[in-house]
Amino acid sequence: MANDFELNQQKTVHNDVLVAKDLTVYLPGPHPVELVKSLSFSVGKERVAMVGESGSGKSLTARALMGLLPHPCALRASQLTLGEQDLLTLNERQWNQLRGNRVSMVMQDPKHALNPARPIGWQVEEPLRLHTRLGRKARQEKVLDMLNAVGLPDPKRLCGQYPHQLSGGMGQRVMLAIALINDPQWLIADEPTSALDFDMREQVLALIERLVEQRNMGLILISHDLQQVSHFCERVLVMYKGDLLDELPADQLAHATHPYTQTLWSCRPSKATHGERLPVLDRALLASLKHASSQESQP
Ligand SMILES: Nc1ncnc2c1ncn2[C@@H]1O[C@H](COP(=O)(O)OP(=O)(O)O)[C@@H](O)[C@H]1O
Ligand SMILES: [Mg+2]
Repeated sequence: MANDFELNQQKTVHNDVLVAKDLTVYLPGPHPVELVKSLSFSVGKERVAMVGESGSGKSLTARALMGLLPHPCALRASQLTLGEQDLLTLNERQWNQLRGNRVSMVMQDPKHALNPARPIGWQVEEPLRLHTRLGRKARQEKVLDMLNAVGLPDPKRLCGQYPHQLSGGMGQRVMLAIALINDPQWLIADEPTSALDFDMREQVLALIERLVEQRNMGLILISHDLQQVSHFCERVLVMYKGDLLDELPADQLAHATHPYTQTLWSCRPSKATHGERLPVLDRALLASLKHASSQESQP
């Protein structure tokens, strides 16, 4: 089992890939219920989108990759690795070391993720206090640099402010600052813009794009917005009821061959379809497709 020193050493390994094989999230019990079903995918230094209707298992998959599954959900997989690091054998202390250091996550709503009782500066500095040996002055400098990097004006003043004093867009920038301050290799962004106004969405997404590029990170972007994803990501994983139904290059979304992906694409609301009736998913067709593909995969 790797110690903290080894975990830090592995940070410097290049060409790391996050690999999940047969990743299953379930509710244990006499009649276990599978919420995420045997997912296999890998993510390198690239921008991968995870799309699918609400309830399809996107957030649980993201949380499984962070070792943050909500109780009572449990996980099994034939492989879950970050580069050389086997995530299936980590204890809680090692997960803590990994989170924020190698993989970070930003959630949908900064209002719930930030601590209302602590000033912003304290919260952005926390990963540095926990995971580095930097002295107080160096930490504070890094916090100001990071707040600058996420485009927040007057970082010094901001450090003394509390979450309720921020707008949604500012809160999400603070969340990004917290997620990125320890230079993780992967960022998982779970609908990072869905709580924001339309204009602010574009801005925060452009910021994520710039930071991912500058810092040479891998990104898993969970999103409802297929239009957004088609411009922003390189590859798309399509989820439906806990299954990974389709995987395709993002610029091929408009020409998807899988009927579910086609329908998701044609259901996307846009300026062009404003006022028109959107197509409805054909669930009977989906059920028959799933049945056919599970028979195909039988030996
Ligand atoms: N803590 C939990 N306990 C039981 N079921 C859960 C829990 N969290 C999520 N689920 C269920 O797992 C499924 C997938 O949820 P989720 O990953 O949040 O979907 P998505 O992010 O795609 O909207 C849903 O059916 C949801 O009801
Ligand atoms: Mg979700």
